[in-house]
Amino acid sequence: MEKQKIDILLGLQWGDEGKGKIVDVVTPHYDVVARFQGGPNAGHSLEFNGIRHVLHIIPSGIFHKEKTNIIGNGVVIDPVTFEEEIRALEAMGLTPTDNLFVSKKAHLILPTHKLLDAAYESQKGDMKIGSTLKGIGPTYTDKTARNGLRVCDIISPNFEEKYHQTIARHQEILDGLHFDYSQTLPEMERKWMDSLATLKSFTFIDSEYELFDLLQKGKSVLAEGAQGTLLDLEFGAYPFVTSSNTIAAGAFTGLGLDPHFAGKVIGIVKAYCTRVGSGPFPTELFDTTGEQLRKQGNEYGATTGRPRRCGWLDLVALKYALMVNGVTDIALTKADVMDNFETINICTAYKVNGQLTTRMPTDPDATIEPVYTPLKGWMQNISQCKSYEALPATFKDYIRFIEEETRTKVSIVSVGPDRDATIFRE
Ligand code: GDP
Ligand code: IMO
Ligand code: MG
Repeated sequence: MEKQKIDILLGLQWGDEGKGKIVDVVTPHYDVVARFQGGPNAGHSLEFNGIRHVLHIIPSGIFHKEKTNIIGNGVVIDPVTFEEEIRALEAMGLTPTDNLFVSKKAHLILPTHKLLDAAYESQKGDMKIGSTLKGIGPTYTDKTARNGLRVCDIISPNFEEKYHQTIARHQEILDGLHFDYSQTLPEMERKWMDSLATLKSFTFIDSEYELFDLLQKGKSVLAEGAQGTLLDLEFGAYPFVTSSNTIAAGAFTGLGLDPHFAGKVIGIVKAYCTRVGSGPFPTELFDTTGEQLRKQGNEYGATTGRPRRCGWLDLVALKYALMVNGVTDIALTKADVMDNFETINICTAYKVNGQLTTRMPTDPDATIEPVYTPLKGWMQNISQCKSYEALPATFKDYIRFIEEETRTKVSIVSVGPDRDATIFRE
């Protein structure tokens, strides 16, 4: 029997490309949806029947009751957020304990990880990353320093001891940073401990064995990424990155998969760019066009509510993302936000310290000037279009331009936040 493939879906920009929506839409084509990295820093939105849902840790396939959802070993879990998400799903009539499974090896975000995140950020001053303050960096730091607590620990007899040792170690660091936690920590700890009961009600798995068995049985798997390629720990503009591998390779370590299983890599691309937090953003717009994108695209963080920085599509960055991920298919989202733009600029090269280049600079202090190719806007409402043929010719020219530049097929076009506002090319 031919080996069943695993497809990987991830963001190709700075996050918030519309991953949640596209995962929800393509889930019917898979048996399993598995999150492979990140944690509650993610906010994945999806819409159906006029209601918007936002998921942080739980895979975006959860609304399809008959599908298996897995939180992989590469994810970091805050049990409090997990419980909140589960309660919201239960209120909708879902029973997530039936179809959601959690890796025993996933690391836990402790209350003090969140405080450490805040303490480190406040120390950084101008160099602050603009973290979501969900404890991501400190939790992955403990993981790599071999100090972390994992999901399997909460059912171990010496869990309390391990927990208190870790909290005490964090308190020493916080004291050294003169960070006052006396008012906040007790309540945070109480909530955290209470929330463990919900996490414990789920089946804990070894995602590597589970997925291997499912694939052997011919089941198909979609690996769901969080954040975006330009926030990857290795390939983003370090240090303005997150603390996990957001790229396709992360799916193999984050789930425990053999790379031979790799099938399609679906890269989600927003028709313009947004970024939350600090760090280089070459095509950022500080003018009324930027404001228009923010307003029409409702560009406010799904996790923190922060306004997102907005700018033109950047093909230098996109080609880099396509390269490091081996993207086979692009899903283009949110072009409808630019329905009334007469001209749409696309960045096709950079001038880095005065020199023309099509490569991403590694130096975060490099002076980058984008070089734009202006394209004609379609000046038409595309949000009601149901087929590729129905899209305006000017919009198809814009898609063709992206395909020719990137040599990658735009296989999915999303023209609105709802499930139904999605066009498949084949
Ligand atoms: P994610 O983190 O990649 O899942 O993206 P977010 O959910 O944080 O942000 C994407 C936002 O755009 C959400 O509010 C979606 O509902 C919305 N969205 C997704 N696709 C489209 C689209 O094609 N058009 C419009 N107008 N909104 C979209
Ligand atoms: P989704 O999955 C957009 C950004 C933060 C900050 C940097 C580091 O919804 O696309 P962290 O909390 O990880 O220490 O923050 O990364 N960031 C995101 N930006 N979408 C996300 O997730 C993000 N997750 C983290 O704003 O700049
Ligand atoms: Mg998001």
